Amino acid sequence: MTKRISFFDTTLRDGEQSPGCSMNHREKLMMARQLEKLGVDVIEAGFAAASPGDFESVKAIADHISESTVAVLARTVKEDIDKAWEAVKGASKPRIHTFIATSPIHMEYKLKMTPQQVADRAEEMVAYAASLCSQVEFSAEDATRSDTDFLAEIFDRVIMAGAKIINIPDTVGYTTPDEFYEFIMDIRKKSKYLDNVQISVHCHNDLGLGVANSLAAIKAGATQIECTVNGIGERAGNAALEEIAMVLSVRGDKYGANSNINTQEITRTSNMLSSITGVNVQPNKAIVGANAFAHESGIHQHGVLSNRETYEIMTPESVGLSKNNLVLGKHSGRHAFKDKVISLGYQIDDDQLNIIFAQFKDLADKKKQIFDRDIEILLTRGIKETRDYYKLERFVVNSGNTITTTASVVLDTPEGIREGISFAQGPVDASFKAIEQCVHKDITLEDFSLQSITEGTDALGYAVVKLRYKDKHFVGRDASIDVVQASISAYINAVNKLMQEEETQEAMAV
Ligand code: KIV
Ligand code: ZN
Repeated sequence: MTKRISFFDTTLRDGEQSPGCSMNHREKLMMARQLEKLGVDVIEAGFAAASPGDFESVKAIADHISESTVAVLARTVKEDIDKAWEAVKGASKPRIHTFIATSPIHMEYKLKMTPQQVADRAEEMVAYAASLCSQVEFSAEDATRSDTDFLAEIFDRVIMAGAKIINIPDTVGYTTPDEFYEFIMDIRKKSKYLDNVQISVHCHNDLGLGVANSLAAIKAGATQIECTVNGIGERAGNAALEEIAMVLSVRGDKYGANSNINTQEITRTSNMLSSITGVNVQPNKAIVGANAFAHESGIHQHGVLSNRETYEIMTPESVGLSKNNLVLGKHSGRHAFKDKVISLGYQIDDDQLNIIFAQFKDLADKKKQIFDRDIEILLTRGIKETRDYYKLERFVVNSGNTITTTASVVLDTPEGIREGISFAQGPVDASFKAIEQCVHKDITLEDFSLQSITEGTDALGYAVVKLRYKDKHFVGRDASIDVVQASISAYINAVNKLMQEEETQEAMAV
Protein backbone atom coordinates (compact mmCIF):
# COMPACT_ATOMS: atom_id res chain seq x y z
CA MET A 1 0.00 0.00 0.00
CA THR A 2 1.30 3.48 -0.86
CA LYS A 3 1.69 5.72 2.17
CA ARG A 4 1.18 9.44 2.02
CA ILE A 5 4.15 11.52 3.22
CA SER A 6 3.31 14.87 4.81
CA PHE A 7 5.58 17.77 3.90
CA PHE A 8 6.28 20.10 6.82
CA ASP A 9 7.96 23.17 5.39
CA THR A 10 10.14 25.19 7.74
CA THR A 11 11.52 27.73 5.24
CA LEU A 12 9.91 30.57 7.18
CA ARG A 13 11.31 29.43 10.53
CA ASP A 14 14.49 27.30 10.35
CA GLY A 15 15.29 28.58 6.85
CA GLU A 16 14.77 32.19 7.72
CA GLN A 17 17.32 31.87 10.55
CA SER A 18 20.15 31.31 8.07
CA PRO A 19 22.54 34.12 7.08
CA GLY A 20 21.14 36.50 4.47
CA CYS A 21 17.75 34.73 4.35
CA SER A 22 15.75 36.99 6.63
CA MET A 23 12.38 38.07 5.25
CA ASN A 24 10.00 40.81 6.23
CA HIS A 25 6.34 40.41 7.06
CA ARG A 26 5.05 40.90 3.52
CA GLU A 27 7.67 38.60 2.03
CA LYS A 28 6.83 35.83 4.52
CA LEU A 29 3.15 36.08 3.69
CA MET A 30 3.91 35.96 -0.03
CA MET A 31 6.03 32.82 0.50
CA ALA A 32 3.37 31.21 2.70
CA ARG A 33 0.77 31.66 -0.04
CA GLN A 34 3.10 30.07 -2.57
CA LEU A 35 3.88 27.16 -0.20
CA GLU A 36 0.16 26.52 0.11
CA LYS A 37 -0.11 26.45 -3.69
CA LEU A 38 2.83 24.05 -3.79
CA GLY A 39 0.74 21.72 -1.67
CA VAL A 40 2.77 21.55 1.53
CA ASP A 41 0.80 19.97 4.35
CA VAL A 42 2.25 22.09 7.14
CA ILE A 43 3.80 25.57 7.03
CA GLU A 44 5.96 26.38 10.04
CA ALA A 45 5.38 30.12 10.11
CA GLY A 46 7.91 31.15 12.75
CA PHE A 47 8.93 31.32 16.38
CA ALA A 48 6.32 33.68 17.86
CA ALA A 49 8.16 34.39 21.11
CA ALA A 50 11.37 35.44 19.31
CA SER A 51 10.26 39.05 18.62
CA PRO A 52 7.12 41.14 18.07
CA GLY A 53 7.86 41.03 14.32
CA ASP A 54 7.94 37.21 14.33
CA PHE A 55 4.70 37.13 16.31
CA GLU A 56 2.95 39.40 13.79
CA SER A 57 4.16 37.36 10.83
CA VAL A 58 2.94 34.08 12.34
CA LYS A 59 -0.40 35.68 13.08
CA ALA A 60 -0.79 37.08 9.57
CA ILE A 61 0.05 33.71 8.01
CA ALA A 62 -2.33 31.92 10.39
CA ASP A 63 -5.09 34.34 9.41
CA HIS A 64 -4.53 34.01 5.64
CA ILE A 65 -3.77 30.33 5.05
CA SER A 66 -6.68 27.92 4.91
CA GLU A 67 -5.55 24.66 3.24
CA SER A 68 -2.22 23.97 4.95
CA THR A 69 -1.80 23.49 8.68
CA VAL A 70 0.04 26.46 10.22
CA ALA A 71 2.61 25.48 12.86
CA VAL A 72 4.39 27.76 15.29
CA LEU A 73 7.53 26.91 17.24
CA ALA A 74 7.82 27.26 21.03
CA ARG A 75 10.33 26.13 23.63
CA THR A 76 8.84 23.99 26.41
CA VAL A 77 8.26 27.19 28.34
CA LYS A 78 4.79 28.39 29.33
CA GLU A 79 5.30 31.99 28.09
CA ASP A 80 6.50 30.71 24.69
CA ILE A 81 3.52 28.40 24.37
CA ASP A 82 1.10 31.19 25.33
CA LYS A 83 2.63 33.49 22.68
CA ALA A 84 2.61 30.67 20.13
CA TRP A 85 -1.08 29.94 20.72
CA GLU A 86 -2.00 33.62 20.64
CA ALA A 87 -0.31 33.92 17.24
CA VAL A 88 -1.65 30.74 15.62
CA LYS A 89 -5.12 30.29 17.08
CA GLY A 90 -6.81 32.07 14.14
CA ALA A 91 -5.56 29.42 11.68
CA SER A 92 -8.06 27.00 10.22
CA LYS A 93 -5.64 24.17 11.15
CA PRO A 94 -3.32 25.39 13.93
CA ARG A 95 -0.42 23.42 15.41
CA ILE A 96 1.91 24.13 18.33
CA HIS A 97 5.38 22.67 17.84
CA THR A 98 7.28 22.54 21.10
CA PHE A 99 10.82 21.29 21.65
CA ILE A 100 13.49 20.57 24.23
CA ALA A 101 16.97 19.11 23.82
CA THR A 102 17.51 15.49 24.87
CA SER A 103 21.19 14.75 24.17
CA PRO A 104 23.61 14.51 27.13
CA ILE A 105 25.74 17.39 25.81
CA HIS A 106 22.76 19.75 25.31
CA MET A 107 21.12 18.83 28.63
CA GLU A 108 24.33 19.32 30.64
CA TYR A 109 25.87 22.39 28.95
CA LYS A 110 22.98 24.25 27.35
CA LEU A 111 19.96 23.51 29.52
CA LYS A 112 21.85 22.66 32.74
CA MET A 113 19.07 20.19 33.53
CA THR A 114 19.05 16.50 34.44
CA PRO A 115 17.33 14.00 32.08
CA GLN A 116 14.61 13.62 34.72
CA GLN A 117 13.95 17.39 34.72
CA VAL A 118 13.91 17.47 30.91
CA ALA A 119 11.37 14.63 30.70
CA ASP A 120 9.17 16.22 33.40
CA ARG A 121 9.27 19.62 31.68
CA ALA A 122 8.47 18.10 28.27
CA GLU A 123 5.48 16.19 29.64
CA GLU A 124 4.13 19.17 31.57
CA MET A 125 4.45 21.62 28.66
CA VAL A 126 3.03 19.25 26.06
CA ALA A 127 0.02 18.76 28.35
CA TYR A 128 -0.29 22.53 28.62
CA ALA A 129 -0.01 23.03 24.84
CA ALA A 130 -2.57 20.24 24.28
CA SER A 131 -5.01 22.02 26.59
CA LEU A 132 -4.92 24.94 24.09
CA CYS A 133 -4.48 23.32 20.69
CA SER A 134 -5.68 19.99 19.31
CA GLN A 135 -2.51 19.42 17.24
CA VAL A 136 0.70 19.38 19.27
CA GLU A 137 4.04 18.31 17.86
CA PHE A 138 6.96 17.48 20.14
CA SER A 139 10.61 17.61 19.02
CA ALA A 140 13.56 16.10 20.87
CA GLU A 141 16.30 18.51 19.80
CA ASP A 142 19.61 16.78 18.97
CA ALA A 143 17.76 13.45 19.04
CA THR A 144 20.36 11.62 16.96
CA ARG A 145 22.97 12.15 19.69
CA SER A 146 20.52 11.11 22.43
CA ASP A 147 20.06 7.77 24.16
CA THR A 148 17.28 5.69 22.57
CA ASP A 149 16.02 4.36 25.94
CA PHE A 150 15.62 7.94 27.13
CA LEU A 151 13.95 9.01 23.87
CA ALA A 152 11.47 6.11 24.09
CA GLU A 153 10.62 7.12 27.66
CA ILE A 154 10.18 10.83 26.91
CA PHE A 155 8.18 10.12 23.73
CA ASP A 156 5.81 7.83 25.63
CA ARG A 157 5.29 10.47 28.29
CA VAL A 158 4.57 13.31 25.84
CA ILE A 159 2.29 11.09 23.76
CA MET A 160 0.27 10.28 26.88
CA ALA A 161 0.22 14.03 27.58
CA GLY A 162 -1.34 14.76 24.17
CA ALA A 163 1.40 15.01 21.48
CA LYS A 164 0.08 13.81 18.12
CA ILE A 165 3.30 14.16 16.14
CA ILE A 166 6.75 13.12 17.37
CA ASN A 167 9.67 14.71 15.56
CA ILE A 168 13.15 13.17 15.61
CA PRO A 169 15.60 15.88 14.51
CA ASP A 170 19.15 15.36 13.34
CA THR A 171 19.89 18.85 14.61
CA VAL A 172 23.61 18.87 13.84
CA GLY A 173 23.48 16.81 10.63
CA TYR A 174 25.52 14.02 12.22
CA THR A 175 23.73 10.79 11.39
CA THR A 176 23.99 8.63 8.26
CA PRO A 177 21.16 6.88 6.37
CA ASP A 178 21.85 3.35 7.68
CA GLU A 179 22.36 4.55 11.21
CA PHE A 180 19.22 6.73 11.16
CA TYR A 181 17.12 3.83 9.89
CA GLU A 182 18.33 1.58 12.74
CA PHE A 183 17.97 4.41 15.24
CA ILE A 184 14.28 5.01 14.43
CA MET A 185 13.53 1.26 14.37
CA ASP A 186 15.19 0.94 17.78
CA ILE A 187 13.09 3.73 19.31
CA ARG A 188 9.93 2.22 17.78
CA LYS A 189 10.80 -1.10 19.39
CA LYS A 190 11.42 0.47 22.80
CA SER A 191 8.45 2.85 22.83
CA LYS A 192 4.96 1.64 23.77
CA TYR A 193 3.03 4.36 21.97
CA LEU A 194 5.18 5.78 19.16
CA ASP A 195 3.40 3.71 16.52
CA ASN A 196 0.08 5.29 17.53
CA VAL A 197 1.18 8.78 16.42
CA GLN A 198 2.80 10.34 13.39
CA ILE A 199 6.61 10.02 13.24
CA SER A 200 8.40 13.01 11.77
CA VAL A 201 12.06 13.75 10.99
CA HIS A 202 13.98 16.99 10.59
CA CYS A 203 17.40 16.52 8.99
CA HIS A 204 20.15 19.12 8.76
CA ASN A 205 22.66 18.90 5.98
CA ASP A 206 26.08 19.32 7.60
CA LEU A 207 27.45 16.18 5.94
CA GLY A 208 25.33 16.64 2.82
CA LEU A 209 23.04 13.79 3.94
CA GLY A 210 19.85 15.69 4.82
CA VAL A 211 17.79 14.27 1.94
CA ALA A 212 19.29 10.75 2.15
CA ASN A 213 18.63 10.62 5.90
CA SER A 214 15.02 11.79 5.40
CA LEU A 215 14.48 9.02 2.83
CA ALA A 216 15.97 6.41 5.19
CA ALA A 217 13.54 7.66 7.83
CA ILE A 218 10.61 7.10 5.45
CA LYS A 219 11.74 3.48 5.15
CA ALA A 220 11.85 3.29 8.95
CA GLY A 221 8.25 4.48 9.27
CA ALA A 222 8.37 8.29 9.26
CA THR A 223 5.39 9.86 7.50
CA GLN A 224 6.23 13.53 8.03
CA ILE A 225 9.35 15.14 6.56
CA GLU A 226 10.53 18.56 7.71
CA CYS A 227 12.38 20.44 4.99
CA THR A 228 12.96 23.82 3.36
CA VAL A 229 12.76 25.29 -0.14
CA ASN A 230 16.22 25.30 -1.80
CA GLY A 231 17.48 23.54 1.34
CA ILE A 232 18.10 26.83 3.17
CA GLY A 233 18.61 26.73 6.92
CA GLU A 234 21.10 26.93 9.77
CA ARG A 235 24.74 26.27 8.71
CA ALA A 236 24.63 23.86 5.71
CA GLY A 237 20.84 24.06 5.70
CA ASN A 238 17.97 21.58 5.95
CA ALA A 239 16.86 18.74 3.71
CA ALA A 240 15.71 20.30 0.42
CA LEU A 241 11.95 20.07 -0.13
CA GLU A 242 12.19 19.95 -3.92
CA GLU A 243 14.65 17.05 -3.87
CA ILE A 244 12.55 14.86 -1.57
CA ALA A 245 9.39 15.73 -3.49
CA MET A 246 10.98 14.73 -6.80
CA VAL A 247 12.45 11.52 -5.36
CA LEU A 248 8.93 10.56 -4.31
CA SER A 249 7.56 11.61 -7.68
CA VAL A 250 10.19 9.81 -9.79
CA ARG A 251 11.15 6.92 -7.47
CA GLY A 252 8.12 6.69 -5.17
CA ASP A 253 7.98 2.95 -5.97
CA LYS A 254 11.23 2.47 -4.00
CA TYR A 255 9.61 3.93 -0.89
CA GLY A 256 5.99 2.87 -1.33
CA ALA A 257 5.21 6.53 -0.79
CA ASN A 258 3.79 9.63 -2.45
CA SER A 259 2.99 13.22 -1.48
CA ASN A 260 0.59 16.06 -2.05
CA ILE A 261 3.27 18.30 -3.58
CA ASN A 262 2.27 19.86 -6.89
CA THR A 263 5.72 19.46 -8.45
CA GLN A 264 4.91 21.92 -11.23
CA GLU A 265 5.01 24.70 -8.63
CA ILE A 266 8.58 23.83 -7.57
CA THR A 267 10.51 26.17 -9.88
CA ARG A 268 8.20 29.08 -9.15
CA THR A 269 8.58 28.55 -5.39
CA SER A 270 12.35 28.26 -5.62
CA ASN A 271 12.61 31.42 -7.75
CA MET A 272 10.34 33.35 -5.42
CA LEU A 273 12.53 32.52 -2.46
CA SER A 274 15.73 33.47 -4.33
CA SER A 275 14.18 36.74 -5.49
CA ILE A 276 13.09 37.63 -1.97
CA THR A 277 16.31 36.72 -0.19
CA GLY A 278 18.81 37.47 -2.95
CA VAL A 279 20.36 34.06 -2.20
CA ASN A 280 20.60 32.07 -5.42
CA VAL A 281 21.04 28.31 -5.59
CA GLN A 282 24.23 26.90 -7.09
CA PRO A 283 23.91 26.19 -10.85
CA ASN A 284 24.34 22.43 -10.42
CA LYS A 285 21.81 22.14 -7.57
CA ALA A 286 19.49 19.18 -8.13
CA ILE A 287 15.99 20.05 -9.44
CA VAL A 288 16.21 23.88 -9.22
CA GLY A 289 19.77 24.75 -10.30
CA ALA A 290 20.16 26.64 -13.59
CA ASN A 291 21.95 23.62 -15.11
CA ALA A 292 19.68 20.91 -13.68
CA PHE A 293 18.02 20.37 -17.07
CA ALA A 294 20.75 21.74 -19.37
CA HIS A 295 22.45 19.35 -21.76
CA GLU A 296 25.73 20.92 -22.83
CA SER A 297 27.79 18.08 -24.25
CA GLY A 298 27.28 17.11 -27.91
CA ILE A 299 26.74 13.43 -27.08
CA HIS A 300 24.06 14.28 -24.54
CA GLN A 301 22.36 16.75 -26.87
CA HIS A 302 22.31 14.20 -29.65
CA GLY A 303 20.78 11.58 -27.34
CA VAL A 304 18.16 13.94 -25.94
CA LEU A 305 17.14 15.08 -29.42
CA SER A 306 16.62 11.46 -30.50
CA ASN A 307 14.79 10.47 -27.33
CA ARG A 308 14.61 12.68 -24.22
CA GLU A 309 14.73 9.70 -21.91
CA THR A 310 18.32 8.88 -22.92
CA TYR A 311 19.60 11.43 -20.42
CA GLU A 312 16.46 12.86 -18.79
CA ILE A 313 14.89 11.05 -15.83
CA MET A 314 12.25 13.75 -15.39
CA THR A 315 11.02 16.52 -17.65
CA PRO A 316 11.67 20.24 -17.03
CA GLU A 317 7.90 20.69 -17.31
CA SER A 318 7.34 18.33 -14.36
CA VAL A 319 9.00 20.87 -12.06
CA GLY A 320 7.31 23.83 -13.76
CA LEU A 321 10.30 24.95 -15.78
CA SER A 322 9.08 26.57 -18.96
CA LYS A 323 11.67 27.15 -21.67
CA ASN A 324 9.62 29.84 -23.25
CA ASN A 325 9.84 32.41 -20.53
CA LEU A 326 10.72 35.37 -22.68
CA VAL A 327 7.79 37.52 -21.90
CA LEU A 328 6.76 41.05 -22.34
CA GLY A 329 8.22 44.07 -24.04
CA LYS A 330 7.70 47.79 -23.94
CA HIS A 331 4.49 47.57 -25.96
CA SER A 332 2.83 45.14 -23.55
CA GLY A 333 -0.26 46.48 -21.87
CA ARG A 334 -1.44 46.43 -18.27
CA HIS A 335 -3.74 43.48 -18.98
CA ALA A 336 -0.99 41.23 -20.32
CA PHE A 337 1.21 42.31 -17.45
CA LYS A 338 -1.44 41.44 -14.89
CA ASP A 339 -1.92 37.98 -16.47
CA LYS A 340 1.82 37.42 -16.24
CA VAL A 341 1.89 38.45 -12.57
CA ILE A 342 -0.89 36.00 -11.78
CA SER A 343 0.76 33.19 -13.75
CA LEU A 344 3.94 33.76 -11.73
CA GLY A 345 1.95 33.03 -8.59
CA TYR A 346 1.76 36.55 -7.10
CA GLN A 347 -1.34 38.14 -5.62
CA ILE A 348 -1.28 41.93 -5.65
CA ASP A 349 -3.99 44.53 -5.44
CA ASP A 350 -4.67 47.17 -8.10
CA ASP A 351 -2.63 49.92 -6.42
CA GLN A 352 0.36 47.63 -6.15
CA LEU A 353 -0.12 46.51 -9.74
CA ASN A 354 -0.02 50.14 -10.88
CA ILE A 355 3.29 50.73 -9.08
CA ILE A 356 4.93 47.59 -10.47
CA PHE A 357 3.53 48.17 -13.95
CA ALA A 358 5.11 51.64 -14.00
CA GLN A 359 8.43 50.09 -12.95
CA PHE A 360 8.04 47.44 -15.65
CA LYS A 361 7.48 50.13 -18.32
CA ASP A 362 10.51 52.01 -17.09
CA LEU A 363 12.60 48.83 -17.26
CA ALA A 364 11.22 47.93 -20.70
CA ASP A 365 12.47 51.29 -22.00
CA LYS A 366 16.01 50.38 -21.00
CA LYS A 367 16.12 46.62 -21.52
CA LYS A 368 15.39 44.81 -24.80
CA GLN A 369 14.05 41.53 -23.45
CA ILE A 370 12.23 41.06 -20.19
CA PHE A 371 12.23 37.61 -18.61
CA ASP A 372 10.12 36.05 -15.88
CA ARG A 373 13.01 36.47 -13.43
CA ASP A 374 13.10 40.24 -14.12
CA ILE A 375 9.40 40.51 -13.34
CA GLU A 376 9.82 38.43 -10.20
CA ILE A 377 12.51 40.83 -9.01
CA LEU A 378 10.21 43.81 -9.65
CA LEU A 379 7.43 42.04 -7.75
CA THR A 380 9.50 41.09 -4.73
CA ARG A 381 11.31 44.38 -4.30
CA GLY A 382 8.66 46.67 -5.81
CA ILE A 383 6.33 47.22 -2.92
CA LYS A 384 8.50 48.07 0.01
CA GLU A 385 7.17 47.44 3.47
CA THR A 386 9.47 49.92 5.10
CA ARG A 387 8.92 53.65 5.13
CA ASP A 388 11.42 55.71 3.12
CA TYR A 389 13.14 57.51 6.00
CA TYR A 390 16.08 58.02 3.63
CA LYS A 391 15.50 58.46 -0.09
CA LEU A 392 17.98 58.75 -2.94
CA GLU A 393 17.72 62.13 -4.67
CA ARG A 394 20.69 61.76 -7.04
CA PHE A 395 24.23 60.50 -7.28
CA VAL A 396 27.30 61.14 -9.45
CA VAL A 397 30.24 58.80 -9.66
CA ASN A 398 33.48 59.59 -11.45
CA SER A 399 35.56 56.53 -12.04
CA GLY A 400 38.34 55.21 -14.28
CA ASN A 401 41.43 53.06 -14.19
CA THR A 402 43.82 56.03 -13.93
CA ILE A 403 41.94 58.18 -11.42
CA THR A 404 40.76 57.90 -7.83
CA THR A 405 37.02 57.24 -7.84
CA THR A 406 34.86 59.99 -6.40
CA ALA A 407 31.19 59.76 -5.50
CA SER A 408 28.64 62.36 -4.52
CA VAL A 409 25.36 61.04 -3.11
CA VAL A 410 22.44 63.31 -2.23
CA LEU A 411 19.80 61.89 0.10
CA ASP A 412 16.49 63.19 1.37
CA THR A 413 16.83 62.41 5.10
CA PRO A 414 14.66 62.97 8.18
CA GLU A 415 16.86 66.05 8.81
CA GLY A 416 16.47 67.42 5.28
CA ILE A 417 18.57 67.15 2.11
CA ARG A 418 22.13 65.99 2.73
CA GLU A 419 25.09 65.41 0.45
CA GLY A 420 28.02 63.08 1.06
CA ILE A 421 31.20 63.23 -1.02
CA SER A 422 33.84 60.56 -0.84
CA PHE A 423 36.92 59.07 -2.52
CA ALA A 424 37.71 55.37 -2.71
CA GLN A 425 39.14 52.64 -4.89
CA GLY A 426 35.88 51.80 -6.65
CA PRO A 427 32.43 53.27 -7.36
CA VAL A 428 30.48 51.16 -4.86
CA ASP A 429 32.97 51.74 -2.05
CA ALA A 430 32.98 55.50 -2.72
CA SER A 431 29.16 55.63 -2.86
CA PHE A 432 28.74 53.71 0.39
CA LYS A 433 31.18 56.03 2.15
CA ALA A 434 29.24 59.03 0.82
CA ILE A 435 25.97 57.56 2.17
CA GLU A 436 27.60 56.99 5.58
CA GLN A 437 28.28 60.74 5.73
CA CYS A 438 24.55 61.41 5.36
CA VAL A 439 23.45 58.78 7.90
CA HIS A 440 25.00 59.64 11.23
CA LYS A 441 24.94 56.19 12.78
CA ASP A 442 27.58 53.74 13.87
CA ILE A 443 26.86 51.23 11.09
CA THR A 444 29.19 48.43 9.95
CA LEU A 445 28.93 47.04 6.44
CA GLU A 446 29.08 43.25 6.96
CA ASP A 447 28.42 41.95 3.50
CA PHE A 448 27.70 43.08 -0.03
CA SER A 449 26.90 41.04 -3.11
CA LEU A 450 25.92 41.87 -6.64
CA GLN A 451 24.66 39.47 -9.28
CA SER A 452 23.00 39.65 -12.64
CA ILE A 453 19.48 38.28 -12.83
CA THR A 454 19.45 37.14 -16.44
CA GLU A 455 21.97 37.04 -19.23
CA GLY A 456 23.08 39.99 -21.41
CA THR A 457 24.89 43.25 -20.71
CA ASP A 458 21.57 44.96 -20.04
CA ALA A 459 20.64 42.45 -17.30
CA LEU A 460 19.28 43.70 -14.01
CA GLY A 461 21.96 43.86 -11.32
CA TYR A 462 20.63 42.61 -7.97
CA ALA A 463 22.44 44.04 -4.95
CA VAL A 464 22.23 42.77 -1.38
CA VAL A 465 23.72 44.78 1.49
CA LYS A 466 24.01 43.49 5.04
CA LEU A 467 24.58 46.07 7.78
CA ARG A 468 25.25 45.58 11.49
CA TYR A 469 23.95 48.16 13.94
CA LYS A 470 23.89 47.66 17.72
CA ASP A 471 24.48 43.89 17.27
CA LYS A 472 21.52 43.46 14.92
CA HIS A 473 21.64 42.71 11.22
CA PHE A 474 19.66 44.52 8.54
CA VAL A 475 19.58 43.26 4.98
CA GLY A 476 18.72 45.63 2.14
CA ARG A 477 18.12 44.66 -1.46
CA ASP A 478 17.45 46.38 -4.74
CA ALA A 479 17.82 45.89 -8.46
CA SER A 480 18.61 48.15 -11.37
CA ILE A 481 20.30 47.99 -14.76
CA ASP A 482 22.79 50.46 -13.28
CA VAL A 483 24.73 48.33 -10.78
CA VAL A 484 25.96 51.33 -8.77
CA GLN A 485 22.39 52.56 -8.38
CA ALA A 486 21.26 49.05 -7.33
CA SER A 487 24.03 49.01 -4.70
CA ILE A 488 23.20 52.47 -3.36
CA SER A 489 19.48 51.66 -3.19
CA ALA A 490 20.14 48.35 -1.43
CA TYR A 491 22.24 50.18 1.17
CA ILE A 492 19.48 52.75 1.70
CA ASN A 493 16.91 49.94 1.96
CA ALA A 494 18.95 48.36 4.79
CA VAL A 495 19.19 51.75 6.56
CA ASN A 496 15.41 52.21 6.25
CA LYS A 497 14.85 48.78 7.83
CA LEU A 498 17.13 49.76 10.68
CA MET A 499 15.23 53.04 11.15
CA GLN A 500 11.93 51.19 11.19
CA GLU A 501 13.20 48.75 13.81
CA GLU A 502 14.42 51.67 15.98
CA GLU A 503 11.04 53.37 15.68
CA THR A 504 9.20 50.15 16.64
CA GLN A 505 11.51 49.61 19.64
CA GLU A 506 10.99 53.23 20.78
CA ALA A 507 7.21 52.90 20.43
CA MET A 508 7.25 49.69 22.50
CA ALA A 509 9.38 51.31 25.22
CA VAL A 510 6.83 54.12 25.74
O1 KIV B 1 17.17 21.41 14.22
C1 KIV B 1 16.36 21.28 15.14
O2 KIV B 1 16.50 20.45 16.05
C2 KIV B 1 15.20 22.16 15.15
C3 KIV B 1 14.13 21.85 16.15
C4 KIV B 1 13.62 23.07 16.81
C5 KIV B 1 13.06 21.05 15.50
O3 KIV B 1 15.10 23.05 14.34
ZN1 ZN C 1 16.48 22.66 12.61
